[in-house]
Amino acid sequence: MKNYIKADEWKIIEEGFDAHYNKISESIFSLGNGRMGQRANFEEAYSGDTLQGNYVAGVYYPDKTRVGWWKNGYPEYFAKVLNAANWIGIDVVIDGEQLDLAKCEVFSFRRELNMKEGYLKRDFRAKTASGKEVKVEAIRFCSMADDETGAIKYTLTPLNFSGAITLTPSIDGDVVNKDSNYDEKFWDEVSKATQADGGYIVMRTKKTGFVVATGMKFNILQNGAAIEPATEAIEKEKYVAAKVSLEAKQGESITVIKYAANLSSQNYKQEELVGELNATLTRISTKGFDTMLAEQAAAWAEKWKHNDIIIEGDISAQQAIRFNIYQLNQTYTGEDDRLNIGPKGFTGEKYGGSTYWDTEAYCVPFYLSTAPQKVTRNLLLYRYKQLGKAIENAQLLGFKDGAALYPMVTMDGTECHNEWEITFEEIHRNGAIAFAIYNYVRYTGDEAYLGDYGFDVLLGIARFWSQRVTWSDDKQQYVMLGVTGPNEYENNVNNNWYTSTIATWCMQYTIDVADKIKDTEPEKYAALVSKLNLNEETEFGRFSDIVQKMYYPYDEKRQVFLQQDGYLDKEQILVKDLPASERPINQKWSWDRILRSCYIKQADVLQGIYFFEDQYDIDTIRRNFDFYEPRTVHESSLSPCVHAILAAKLGDEARAYEFYLRTARLDLDDYNNDTEDGCHITSMAGTWMAVVEGFGGMRVSDGKLSFQPFIPEKWSSFSFHIGFRGALLNIKVSKEGVQIKNASDVETTVLVYGKEQLVKANDELLVEA
Ligand code: BGC
Repeated sequence: MKNYIKADEWKIIEEGFDAHYNKISESIFSLGNGRMGQRANFEEAYSGDTLQGNYVAGVYYPDKTRVGWWKNGYPEYFAKVLNAANWIGIDVVIDGEQLDLAKCEVFSFRRELNMKEGYLKRDFRAKTASGKEVKVEAIRFCSMADDETGAIKYTLTPLNFSGAITLTPSIDGDVVNKDSNYDEKFWDEVSKATQADGGYIVMRTKKTGFVVATGMKFNILQNGAAIEPATEAIEKEKYVAAKVSLEAKQGESITVIKYAANLSSQNYKQEELVGELNATLTRISTKGFDTMLAEQAAAWAEKWKHNDIIIEGDISAQQAIRFNIYQLNQTYTGEDDRLNIGPKGFTGEKYGGSTYWDTEAYCVPFYLSTAPQKVTRNLLLYRYKQLGKAIENAQLLGFKDGAALYPMVTMDGTECHNEWEITFEEIHRNGAIAFAIYNYVRYTGDEAYLGDYGFDVLLGIARFWSQRVTWSDDKQQYVMLGVTGPNEYENNVNNNWYTSTIATWCMQYTIDVADKIKDTEPEKYAALVSKLNLNEETEFGRFSDIVQKMYYPYDEKRQVFLQQDGYLDKEQILVKDLPASERPINQKWSWDRILRSCYIKQADVLQGIYFFEDQYDIDTIRRNFDFYEPRTVHESSLSPCVHAILAAKLGDEARAYEFYLRTARLDLDDYNNDTEDGCHITSMAGTWMAVVEGFGGMRVSDGKLSFQPFIPEKWSSFSFHIGFRGALLNIKVSKEGVQIKNASDVETTVLVYGKEQLVKANDELLVEA
């Protein structure tokens, strides 16, 4: 755990340069706008340890699978998030000496991520090996208002000399992926051009054929006034630049304003890319840096209006929750239903593909409450559009008749994961996709979605489950053999309680949805039956039979659901009795030892209890929580939030807070020593859930929101925004009580501590403590 980020309510601040922290900071200070993003690499050259990263959403490369032992059914390729052309480069050479912080004496250094207005600022004072001192201030952002563009204002002031300086703004497409199975470069050059004040490069991805045009345009100012110095165009393979030569004077600033744009063939015809790119660069450079920055602040103000969580009395918690919300908004805006939320977003390459069950299980609740309805709808449509591939994927594994198995990891619907215990067995992901449909409809009331899109997906998933179960003659029940539950520290287990529970839930929900559509839209239902080749009698008959006769492991003695058959054969040494030196076990123990242990990587039975909370009484929840929590090592960042929400439900406020803390500052404090690879974007949604569903006790049932809040001891109050069926609510929980403001024209009824409260349009009320 590190502790070098300075506390501030709206900013992430690093003071002083420590090269050891550079890659961590590159992740934490990342920028993005849903369409593109980048790590907080330096503009000028840096020869120290760095992970270079510029990403364009949806652009990937299918890297040929590399495994030790090939197994039939493995996907051929693993789609990788691609490091794309670097548009931030501004090389600085002072009297023949390159400015490179790894080779300078750095006197002062400050990096600041301004979350309120959405920009990254860095300033430093440094002395080169030959004794030249400079001051640099760099501000940059990826525009939220104009999401194919970004801009940089880079100002350098010679402090103790006058002399020749060259500044070389560049676009560098000659980049590599850290994560590459065969050390290949993934981009080919298509074309490029340079002008006196800019240039562009067009690159094509190998195999997938995405074409991305990345361009720049720049102006130079000296002491704030525009100048037109001599420039020299440089073109190398996959690289364009313009070298600007100047005579710098001591104390006089030199500023490069660099405008950049990234346009992809996903959105334009290839032959139009260059024309559109140049038009975009002209448009933004005419608009100017200050206007773009003002638009950026306005776009973020609009986001914060619907997203902000205010915590009073704990600045570190305030900073952390805003950081999580900020990163989620940078990663996904919901503008494009082809895009999704990668576990690392735009902060690193790790985890390859962009879509995991994380989206449906963790991110959907966040976007449902904080973004317009279409944003979550787009996340659901992403899966709807990939249904065909999910059916093919299931066919490859021997399933038939429209059974769909969604991939564990994907970019375009094709499975990318290639560890057999996950690819073939971690099938619970299918359940989360069905659950998200239920969650969306429960939250929004958009029942039309079911007939238009939802039912197709549900039926494919239910068909898969109905074929995946086995009838056990011995038990006279259905069983689910050979699975991996959410707890990846158990593989190839029989009857994982969570998987079996979500499987039967999916089958029942599919029948219920069919009944609903049949009742309300009989013609649409008839069309669906014919389109999907549905034989109601046999298929629904089988689903019902499985629902009634499914086997779920249970321990009578302890009265808990058993994670899987045989779980209690394991040696039951609790996590608290594990020496600290042996943790995290995934870094200290061999894999077989982990598999034989009783330690649970992440919420598994408790994940199911969280999803289907209404089905269990409080004593059942408590017994299971008390049994599983002491055995859970939380070595997935997705885990603590579920425990926080259940602890809160059980009235264990102290523990709810403790679990919340484990995710809230996970990246800011580099809790797991892995932030340098990128931030844990999807678990950030879990942090939000811990506040809203945990401390706020928010639930939705029967078309109404309900709250059961408490304030963590260290806080004096907290408040959050919730959009619900047209109403825009702000809920503030303080010692005085629960204050609800409605900033919309839609009145709504909510339950606070079980009592109905009418919140009129544009009105507020206080439910006293
Ligand atoms: C977790 C999975 C998760 C993945 C990506 C893994 O460590 O066990 O549940 O989907 O990370 O976040």
